[in-house]
Amino acid sequence: MNFLSLIEAKRDGQVLTTKQIEDIIAAYTGGQIPDYQIAAFLMAVYFRGLNTAETRALTFSMRDSGEKLEFPSDRRPLVDKHSTGGVGDKVSLPLAPLLACLGFRVPMISGRGLGITGGTLDKLDSIPGFKTSLPSKRIIQMVQKVGCVICGQTHRMVPADKGLYALRDVTGTVPSIPLIVASILSKKLAESLSALVLDVKFGAAAFMPEPNQALALANAMVTLGNQCGVRTRALLTNMDTPLGRAAGNWLEVKEAVECLEVQSSKFKVQSSKLEDLRSIVLASAAQLLVLTRKAPNYDAGRRRAEDCLDSGAPRRKWDEMLAAQGADLSVFQRKLERDHTASVIAEIHAHRAGFLVRCDARIIGQVVRDLGGGRLSKDSVISYDVGVDRLAKPGEAIQKGAVLARVHADTRADATTACSALQSAFQISPKRPRPAPLVWRVVQ
Ligand code: URA
Repeated sequence: MNFLSLIEAKRDGQVLTTKQIEDIIAAYTGGQIPDYQIAAFLMAVYFRGLNTAETRALTFSMRDSGEKLEFPSDRRPLVDKHSTGGVGDKVSLPLAPLLACLGFRVPMISGRGLGITGGTLDKLDSIPGFKTSLPSKRIIQMVQKVGCVICGQTHRMVPADKGLYALRDVTGTVPSIPLIVASILSKKLAESLSALVLDVKFGAAAFMPEPNQALALANAMVTLGNQCGVRTRALLTNMDTPLGRAAGNWLEVKEAVECLEVQSSKFKVQSSKLEDLRSIVLASAAQLLVLTRKAPNYDAGRRRAEDCLDSGAPRRKWDEMLAAQGADLSVFQRKLERDHTASVIAEIHAHRAGFLVRCDARIIGQVVRDLGGGRLSKDSVISYDVGVDRLAKPGEAIQKGAVLARVHADTRADATTACSALQSAFQISPKRPRPAPLVWRVVQ
């Protein structure tokens, strides 16, 4: 293969054949193409794009670059959820056990955080003893026995994406719709799913801030997912404000457990506290129930998901999943009971009364990252116990002096820096803001 001529063809806007794309991925995975040439090819794709057939060929070639998870046949459909990433986005944690209790099998292969967006695996790593790295045989066993697993990609799954994503990250070629579609879907297709729900974020802390960009990405992923035989839908959700009231690895695990424990208003238990998180968890479950024809329509699916969540079964399933992945439940429970595990706690307070109109997810994500809760580079070491909680949320009435956020830090100096950065994340106004819808659209 003359790879230079393929780079030139894409640079000049030509369409590549399926065979040419397959050859590129096979040669790259086989170590026959140097990184500088693949980087040039990625940049050509970034500017020239890929049409639907090229994107499909890239997705399939990447999926086939490594091993796939092959499950025994079973009545329980295989499903998963993927989020494009946000601040405080811990939806996967309560969703996996909820879906297992609704009669699904959930091989939830997740990633680590980079920059301001948190990663599911980093959150789970804050649980003492919990193993996020499992061989494929164990992943399959867990899915069959427990119904759900949340772990990282094995070394053998979709190796092409590992290399390409690392290169895109350092060559400014991440925000390309066909490259994102191929990267995300190749990994999901390797899980042999029947149905997939995508949570595509837009807003201040999303990597596609404009709603229309996010919509284009969602349309492309839903179309290709369906063409590849995975029933796919996307929720377009707002990421101007963090999801829930906590951001930071361990603090988010705590909040996910709360979401599994808090019951709906029919039980008169305080649920409004985590309404946004709960709402995306239930919406994702309801979409999967509809996609797999386990519910006749969205409303019926949502009611079923809500009843299941309120039954307490997903909370027990969570413990079962934790124990099966190596966690010591008594140590976990003792950690949950602690108010905080970081060395230093500090609060920021409202300087005046009014209504909160802004709680900026981008600034909060940066604060959590700079406290050590996120990565500036792939090799950064994470601090699991730092972050922010008790976040005030837009629309709430705020008294002068009320807590807007609580900082969890490793040192007093870190806490002071975080508190001063956080001041600009909040805005209070005398007028109550109109609530922004959390789910803007559903793409199907
Ligand atoms: N997440 C991925 O897995 N791949 C991308 O390209 C972007 C986000």
